[in-house]
Amino acid sequence: MDKMMDEIVSKLVKDIRYGEIKGTYNIVVATINLLKYLINNANWITAKDLIEIIILNGKHLIDAFPLEASIGNMVRRILKIIREEYMLELKKKSDESDFQESLHKLLTAEAEDDVDFNISVPSLKPSLIDRLNEFELELETCSENITKLAPEYIESNDIIMTFGKSTLVEEFLKTAAATKSFEVIVAEGGPSLRGIEMASSLSEAKIQTTLLSDDLMFALMPKISKVIIGAHTVMSNGGLRAISGCGTIARAAKYYSIPLIVLLPLYKLSPLSVCSYKQDGFTKYASPLSGVISGANAALLERVEAYNPVYNYVPSDLVTLFITNMGSNEPSCNHKLISELYHPNDYKL
Ligand SMILES: *[C@@H]1O[C@H](CO)[C@@H](O)[C@H](O)[C@H]1NC(C)=O
Ligand SMILES: *[C@@H]1O[C@H](CO)[C@@H](O)[C@H](O)[C@H]1NC(C)=O
Repeated sequence: MDKMMDEIVSKLVKDIRYGEIKGTYNIVVATINLLKYLINNANWITAKDLIEIIILNGKHLIDAFPLEASIGNMVRRILKIIREEYMLELKKKSDESDFQESLHKLLTAEAEDDVDFNISVPSLKPSLIDRLNEFELELETCSENITKLAPEYIESNDIIMTFGKSTLVEEFLKTAAATKSFEVIVAEGGPSLRGIEMASSLSEAKIQTTLLSDDLMFALMPKISKVIIGAHTVMSNGGLRAISGCGTIARAAKYYSIPLIVLLPLYKLSPLSVCSYKQDGFTKYASPLSGVISGANAALLERVEAYNPVYNYVPSDLVTLFITNMGSNEPSCNHKLISELYHPNDYKL
């Protein structure tokens, strides 16, 4: 049996590596499409075979992109869906006599570790495909569910600080602006300076916006009523990997006891924790020539080592609240969410 679907997996790896597919949401959608393709086309009979196939191919993708935690999150979501659908379909069969014995054992299994996934249930495939189609549709509502909550968390007369550019934060602020009047201060977000784009988009939407040099974040913080940022990944301990500079804005907010709100589509919530610059898969380094050091100064380039990390770690004690597509929660509640989203046997793949 051919369990590794080389061609289709390699194609996705290539598409992500060469930027044909970019942005976390698009990567998530492509990953789910791939897993759905495997369920439809790979050669499997029992849930046990299928779980192996999903893990084997999923790990290949995960290893190719250690920074894209959402890929692993989606592999784990699909594994949990397979486990659940298998149990549901088996229960439906409970009246069929030839299933009785194994079923009884299954339904009374103490731990899920004892569940035997090696029983063939022909109705599993169609029910899985239905469930995945639903899951895909639901995913489309993710950012809308978050931006819908904006009017609950933004008051008129708020002065909000944000950092650089996040499409989700941008939409969140624009949604609130339909009913509230507030001010936004955008730190420009060096060295990429994408805050400039963010500020002009907000002011085009008639939001009173000021662009701020990153150096002034600390000085201005006492005037701010809340800080709102996005994240690349949220770890199981509630800490986050966010664009470089978010560590500084978060510390300034904490120093002045200003609430820090993080917008979190749940596909970014990982059951793992990588939080050290020394760990593989925590950050990547961009060329220091893009904004950190000038290429014109050849003498200096020879003598200094310059680093330009793309991500910062923001520890959970700096975060006040996560706003997710299922509501809002404090960082300490992440463990509960994780146990609802993923099966513990799949945390480590
Ligand atoms: C799973 O079931 C098949 C067919 O019933 C059997 O041949 C195979 O040995 C079983 N595998 C395991 C690991 O129990
Ligand atoms: C968005 O909210 C609706 C209604 O509360 C819910 O049914 C749906 O599952 C949510 N979507 C996601 C992706 O959580």
